[in-house]
Amino acid sequence: MTLRYRFRSIRAAIAAAVLIGMPIPGSLNALAQDAPTAEAPMTPPADSAAQSPQAALIQKGQYLVAAGDCVSCHTRPGGEPFAGGLPLKTPFGTIYSANITPDADTGIGGWSEAQLARAMHEGIDDQGHHLYPAFPYTAYTKVTDEDVQAIYAYLKSVAPVSYAPPKNEMSFPFNQRGLMAIWNRLFLKDARYQPDSSKSAEWNRGAYLVEGLGHCGACHTPRNQLGGERASLALTGGVYQDDVIDAVHEQDVVREDEGMVRPWAAVDLTPSPRGLGAWSTDDIAAYLKTGHNIRAGAFGPMAEVVANSTSHLTDADTRAMAVYLKSLTPAAQEIAKSVTPDQMRQGEIAFTVRCGDCHLPTGLGSPRTADADPTKVSPPLVGNAIIQAPDPASLINIILYGAHETTLNDKSWPKMPGFELDFGLGMDDDQISYLADYVRNSWGNQGGAVDPKDVARQR
Ligand code: HEC
Ligand code: HEC
Ligand code: HEC
Repeated sequence: MTLRYRFRSIRAAIAAAVLIGMPIPGSLNALAQDAPTAEAPMTPPADSAAQSPQAALIQKGQYLVAAGDCVSCHTRPGGEPFAGGLPLKTPFGTIYSANITPDADTGIGGWSEAQLARAMHEGIDDQGHHLYPAFPYTAYTKVTDEDVQAIYAYLKSVAPVSYAPPKNEMSFPFNQRGLMAIWNRLFLKDARYQPDSSKSAEWNRGAYLVEGLGHCGACHTPRNQLGGERASLALTGGVYQDDVIDAVHEQDVVREDEGMVRPWAAVDLTPSPRGLGAWSTDDIAAYLKTGHNIRAGAFGPMAEVVANSTSHLTDADTRAMAVYLKSLTPAAQEIAKSVTPDQMRQGEIAFTVRCGDCHLPTGLGSPRTADADPTKVSPPLVGNAIIQAPDPASLINIILYGAHETTLNDKSWPKMPGFELDFGLGMDDDQISYLADYVRNSWGNQGGAVDPKDVARQR
C-alpha cells in the first residue's frame, strides 16, 4: 500500500485539555459513554501467503494506522510522517503532537508494546503521565490488543526521526496532567470493542472501525461543557475549530495563512432527513473511499480524513462502515429559530443570482452527464446534510471560501469558487445569512435561521 498524504497546517482541537477544575455536573453515569455488548473477530486485510509472519504483521499495522489516521495529527507541515510537532490549538493552550517514530530519545523507540497499548487504551504514557484527549484515546480504547500489536510492529518499522516537538503551552490549571484522571473517570470507558452477536460480522466490523480507530465521533459527536462526547447524541453532528484552506487560490497563496481556523460543523451521520437519510449505503461507501459521490464532495477537514485515512481502506471496510452508519437511530433535531417570509424572499434573490446557475432553481444540481456544461456540474442541495446542519458553520464556509475536494479521481466534482474572494459581489453578513436561510428551508430542507453574527465570525 502506498500512502499519499495530505496535510493541513493546524488542527484545532476538539476535546482537548478539557475542563478540569470546572464544576462536575450530575451523575457520572449520565455522562459515561454507552458500551456495546458481546464479542467479535477483527480480520486484517488479506495479504500474500509468501510473507513472513513479521512482514504480514507490519503490513496489517500499516493498514490499521491508516484507519486510525495517526499521520494527520502526528505530522507537522513539512515534517517527516509520524515525527509529531503539529500544534493543536485548544481554548486552554496549544498541545503539540508527539513523535511516534521509533527514535529512542525523542520518539517511542524505548516503548514496549504494553506501553503503547496503555497509551491507546487508557491515555497514559510510558512514564505514567496522563495524555490529553486531543489524542483520541477515548475512541482508541476500543481497539483490540491484537490490532495494537500490529500497530506497534508497524510504528517500530518506520524510519526513526530525531525530533523533539515543542513543549505544550497550556495555561494553569490545564498544564496539570494529573487532572485528566478526573476527566477520564467521566469520559473514558476503558474497554475493548465488544461485538454485538445479534448483528452481522459486517456490521460489527463497521462499528469497530467507526467507533474505534476511525474516531469519527471526535468531530461528529457533540460535546458537553466538559468537552466529553455526549454518548446519547453520538454521531448526530458536532462543531469544532479547524483550518479553512482555500484550495482554489492555492497558487497565489491567498488565505493559506496558518492559523486561519474557523468553526466547522461535522454533520449528522445518522440516517435522519437532515443527516445522511438521503444517502444509500453505496453513496456513503463511495464518499469514504474517494471523497465524493453523486450527492457531495469532501471539501473541508473531511477531505484530509478521506485522503489520509478512509481512502486507504478496502472496499469491504468502507462498506462495513456505511452499513453501520445506516443502522444508527435517526437523530431528532429541533429547529431553533424559524425563518421569516421576508428572509426567504431576500435569500431567493441571492440564490437565483449567485447559485441557481449551477445548482439549479430546483436545488437538484447539474449531474455529470455526457452533455453537461462542465462549468456548471454540481451536486444537489436537496436533502443536503451540510446545508441542514443545526450549526450552519460549514455552509457559511462554503459560501465564503468555496468547496474544493481533494481530487482522488477524475469523477470528482469541479471546484466551487468562494464568494468572498472570487466574485466580490459585495454580499454582506445579512445577505449571506438570508441566502443560507433560503437554502436551509427550500425544496423540503429544514434548518433554523442563520444569525448574521455567525457569518461575521467566519469572515
Ligand atoms: C486528533 C489527533 C491525533 C490522532 C488522530 C492521533 N494522535 Fe497520537 N497524539 C496526539 C496528541 C496531540 C498527542 C500528545 C498528547 C499530550 O501531549 O498529552 C498524542 C500522543 C500520542 C502518543 C504518546 C506519545 C508520547 O511520547 O507521549 C502515542 C503513543 C500516540 N499519540 C499514538 C497514536 C497512534 C498510534 C495514533 C493512530 C492510531 C494516533 N496517535 C492518532 C494527537 C493525535
Ligand atoms: C460554478 C458553479 C457553482 C456555483 C455558482 C455554486 N456552486 Fe455550490 N457547488 C458547486 C460544485 C462543483 C460543488 C462540489 C464541490 C466539492 O464538493 O468539492 C458545490 C458544492 C456545494 C455544496 C456542498 C455540497 C456537499 O454536501 O458536498 C453546497 C452546500 C453548495 N455548493 C452551495 C452553494 C451555494 C449556496 C451557492 C451560491 C452562493 C453555490 N453553491 C454556488 C458548484 C457551484
Ligand atoms: C477531524 C474531524 C473529522 C473526523 C475525524 C471525521 N469527520 Fe467526517 N466530516 C467532518 C467535517 C468538518 C465535515 C463537513 C464537510 C467537509 O469537511 O468536507 C465532515 C463530513 C462528513 C461526511 C459528508 C457529509 C455531507 O453531507 O457532505 C461524511 C459521510 C462523514 N464526514 C463521515 C465521517 C466518518 C465515517 C468518519 C470516521 C471515519 C469521519 N467522518 C471522521 C469532520 C470530521
